[in-house]
Amino acid sequence: MKGLILSGGKGTRLRPFTYTGAKQLVPVANKPVLFYAIEDLVEAGITDIGIVVGDTAEQVMGAVGDGSRFGAKITYIRQEQPLGIAHGVKISEPFLQKEPFVLFLGDNLLCDGILPLVEKFRHGGMHSLILLTQVKNPQNFGIAECYDGRVVRLVEKPREPKSDLAVVGIYLFDHHVFEAINNIQPSARGELEITETIQYLIDRGFAVKAHHLTGHWTDTGKMDDILEANRWLLETLEEKIEGTVDSHSSIYGKLILEPGAEIVNSVIRGPVAIAQGTKIVNSFIGPYTSIYYDCLIANSEVEHSIVMENCRIMDIEHRIGDSLVGRSVEVTKSPAKPKTYRLVLGDHSKVEVL
Ligand code: G1P
Repeated sequence: MKGLILSGGKGTRLRPFTYTGAKQLVPVANKPVLFYAIEDLVEAGITDIGIVVGDTAEQVMGAVGDGSRFGAKITYIRQEQPLGIAHGVKISEPFLQKEPFVLFLGDNLLCDGILPLVEKFRHGGMHSLILLTQVKNPQNFGIAECYDGRVVRLVEKPREPKSDLAVVGIYLFDHHVFEAINNIQPSARGELEITETIQYLIDRGFAVKAHHLTGHWTDTGKMDDILEANRWLLETLEEKIEGTVDSHSSIYGKLILEPGAEIVNSVIRGPVAIAQGTKIVNSFIGPYTSIYYDCLIANSEVEHSIVMENCRIMDIEHRIGDSLVGRSVEVTKSPAKPKTYRLVLGDHSKVEVL
């Protein structure tokens, strides 16, 4: 079996981060989202992996490389325009050939991995296996309508959803999927939709089975979802303290402290992850916070947040919470008079002040 990860797309729902970076490279629990997909495939024994890349190709290729550090062999497939998930599969036919494959949307995170699903597909005599899970906001997903335990209809982001069963962005197919893609038309938004592709298979009597997911799953396409994924991932990780904690600091709950990270005269209330080269000084880091590499947090309090690499947060009086802080950001106290907020913010930034 092969793996195909889609890592193109514009990530418009995740601006401003996606102006400068691929949404699949946003770190969750201090690891780019895309890496979890690669690791899930490798864990399921799938090491021949294609990654479909778009505008952010250079970044994705720079981060993943040839895949050897994951124990995988990566083939990059260029998608010139984001014309839909099924289009990403269509252009990957020369790579996939006739082999069955797992299609993994690179912004999807799954708690329990895919090994049982791959096994189920391999031995289940089916053409496709899709994953369904209950969601609170079915308007935002592909939605499945089931009858008698079988999927009968899939609708992409329905205005009036008939069920709350969302199609998860991880699918298993055999080569019949190409027949389906070659027979569907672009949707109103100009994309070849994966939901319509699967609908074609259902309508033509191909064996499409559904697996109901009970563990955590997040589509990290939006900021709140990223914070949610960060929460449940930090819950599942094991404590590991490889950096240094001085004797004036107190650690409560779980901490993942990478080598070269330093905690000085601070209070950490886990679960918290702090990556290499980051220094926390005279500060409080509260639950569900991930601070990526080479940051400095001094005389400040941060909780329930993700701080990306190379940031400086210093001398901030009020606690920073529920926040996603991009790369190389500086948040500091202004020493100058008049007493004023001085903001240098990129397009689509959001600031909520006290
Ligand atoms: C895509 C699919 C949708 C699916 C979702 C899962 O939507 O089109 O059917 O439910 O992924 O993440 P997107 O998030 O790309 O708009």
